[in-house]
Amino acid sequence: MTLPPHPADVPPGYPLAYERELRLSDGRRAAIRPIVPSDAPALAAAIRSADAETLRRRFLGGPPRLTPELLTRLTTLDYNLRFALVAAEAASGKGIGIARYEQVADGVAEVAVAVDPAWRRVGLATALVELLAQAALERRIHTFSASYIAENRPVAALLSLADLTGACAVGQGLAESEVELDRGSVIAAVRALDTDQDTPAGSGGVRHLR
Ligand SMILES: CC(C)(COP(=O)(O)OP(=O)(O)OC[C@H]1O[C@@H](n2cnc3c(N)ncnc32)[C@H](O)[C@@H]1OP(=O)(O)O)[C@@H](O)C(=O)NCCC(=O)NCCS
Repeated sequence: MTLPPHPADVPPGYPLAYERELRLSDGRRAAIRPIVPSDAPALAAAIRSADAETLRRRFLGGPPRLTPELLTRLTTLDYNLRFALVAAEAASGKGIGIARYEQVADGVAEVAVAVDPAWRRVGLATALVELLAQAALERRIHTFSASYIAENRPVAALLSLADLTGACAVGQGLAESEVELDRGSVIAAVRALDTDQDTPAGSGGVRHLR
């Protein structure tokens, strides 16, 4: 994954403002940027090599069939009603996480996130969801919804990030939460990402990629 993307790969409407380099809470650095169509082969490889439990939790069952159409759909976005951020190890460009939202009703978007097991518990998913929430609010989306396996404690924790309040309905092993995005909390969370550079214990530090 190139960071930032090669100029020839940048689609119309690509929101440069979401490019970041973060220092995670264990000191490792991750580069974050909006997904672009040329990420399709790397995304396919990541889904193919993901462990069964990650796929079960992310896709709530078996992994999808990786057709060219699906990969195009997952990587060609309008950055408005459909938006996704990818994260890579800053040094190597190896993909390590992805988060996306897709509007499902007026002002409401379904959110999904996955992080490479070797990069978990250091705040990466939290940072991705915070940045996604900022993008959503700037695009008149005020609520995130998520469907997840009820025992998925990390997701439940993520959905309560930044003191956002969520309602949760659990049935047949699946939970569904709707979280109304609180503008003040989201702005504060993203500002903390941007100013936390020199605090190793914090959720991370940010450098813009260009
Ligand atoms: C859910 C997932 C994205 C979390 O990613 P992450 O980068 O580890 O998350 P963060 O480091 O930002 O942690 C967020 C919070 O979740 C909680 N958490 C994370 N992993 C946890 C675990 N294994 N057990 C309990 N709580 C956990 C913690 O409260 C954590 O905050 P803290 O450790 O700072 O107190 C990751 O576990 C994953 O990819 N799982 C598989 C796919 C999936 O379940 N996707 C969600 C459905 S769409």
